[in-house]
Amino acid sequence: MPENNDKKKLQDLYNEYNIPLPEEKPVRPRPQSAPAKPANTAPKSDIPRKPDGTSYTMQELQQIQAYRAAMRQRRNGQAQNTARPSARPEHPEQQRAVRQGQAMPSQSAQNRPQEPRRQQQANGHYYGQKQDAAVPKYRRRKLSKPNPAALIFTLLIVVISAFSIGQIIQNNRTPGNDIDHSSPGMIQNNDDALANLPGSETAGDTEETAEGIDDDAMVLWNTVQVSNDTLDEGDLILVNYEYAYADADTISPTVLYGVKADTYQVSSTNISLLPVALEALNNLANDFHAETGSREIIIVSGYRDVASQKSIYDSRVASQGEEMAKLYVATPGYSEHHTGLAIDMSFYTTAGASVAVEDHEFGYWIHENCDNYGFVLRYPDDKVDITQIGYESWHYRYVGLPHAAIMSEKNLCLEEYIAYLREYTPSTKLIWIQKDGVMAEVSPTAFPKEGTLVYFVPAAEGETTDIRLPRGNIFEKYEISGNNVDGFIVTVRIG
Ligand code: DAL
Ligand code: ZN
Repeated sequence: MPENNDKKKLQDLYNEYNIPLPEEKPVRPRPQSAPAKPANTAPKSDIPRKPDGTSYTMQELQQIQAYRAAMRQRRNGQAQNTARPSARPEHPEQQRAVRQGQAMPSQSAQNRPQEPRRQQQANGHYYGQKQDAAVPKYRRRKLSKPNPAALIFTLLIVVISAFSIGQIIQNNRTPGNDIDHSSPGMIQNNDDALANLPGSETAGDTEETAEGIDDDAMVLWNTVQVSNDTLDEGDLILVNYEYAYADADTISPTVLYGVKADTYQVSSTNISLLPVALEALNNLANDFHAETGSREIIIVSGYRDVASQKSIYDSRVASQGEEMAKLYVATPGYSEHHTGLAIDMSFYTTAGASVAVEDHEFGYWIHENCDNYGFVLRYPDDKVDITQIGYESWHYRYVGLPHAAIMSEKNLCLEEYIAYLREYTPSTKLIWIQKDGVMAEVSPTAFPKEGTLVYFVPAAEGETTDIRLPRGNIFEKYEISGNNVDGFIVTVRIG
């Protein structure tokens, strides 16, 4: 639990951003057999925690809360007009497969609260929309006859302005000048100002000498070199029917049993995950428990080596034939479970019944909120033709933030997201997630001073790739993930 001091700071944070405190979701009456909710021990759902019980930093909290606040605002805005479509698979074969493994008849999906589903923005540029954005009104003006005196005066002003701008540029080349903040919220391309920032290098220190790169843009960037061997490392690696995961048998994920939060269950003591996915799962389950009172989430699968996947695959082929097996079980070597970033989640009720996520009374919460914790429903029913895997309400993949939020808002599966990111490079444009969670595109020649930047760098020929990173001490926090296909995705946390 965060200290009281941190709670106070969080409250101040909400006040500062004028974000309403998260509303309590109505909690359904719990079955008689359910264990009583311990008094005062349930953590507040709006304050994520790390698995060891320590608090996030204020900056981490700000980012998490901003994503969640933006989501909530959008949901509230759309709630009145948007009905929640059924999460049940349409295809009878998929329905049959989903029902398999359920120990008891499922609870009625009709009793679930109606939750709005987020809509894709029509313009494709934003996944959140500022509520107060004013629509400019343009009016036609009458043209009047040109006045010769006014024309001469205007010409004079233009000449003086041009001269002054020349002087300013000259002055800015003098070391010691401050950053040019002429565009609010942006750091403009000002080489000497940037070179003066602690931790920056001079333009000559960068390795950006490739042809076709604008010299002026270069001064905004530093370069780090990564090995192309790391193309299959990171939260955003694509593993599917086409792209195998080469390290399946060499990674060492963490066993959940003994270190997991006590707000969910595991079906076996040897289920393991990479620490980053485990931490996110703990946070998700803690908040789920705080909001619903339920500890019925059960993780039934996590990391699998190739031999385990083969055993599952062979057994499914034997019981259902190759066609059905391929629809729900990845070919050994090509499963996301090899990465330690994927989980199969279900519910195990206090009455001893196994219930699929989509059939549990609180299953909607998982579908609606998993992206706030960096998870995505990996095989949705409307993406079967792309993923080539049937709808799986149980399989969630950790991709991290802000990626899960962007994928959810734009309704992109991982295959689509990887392709979408290729548009955003240091030579074209960057994705900018603002502090309030609103997404925008920015030019690579003017960096924002807050929020998160996301972009793609294609892998170079040879053994290494030069990754461009914004220069300056506010851009020091970044992550680079391979995509396991053709390049690297950079996430820069500004500030
Ligand atoms: N069920 C998923 C597709 C897997 O086997 O990896
Ligand atoms: Zn799975």
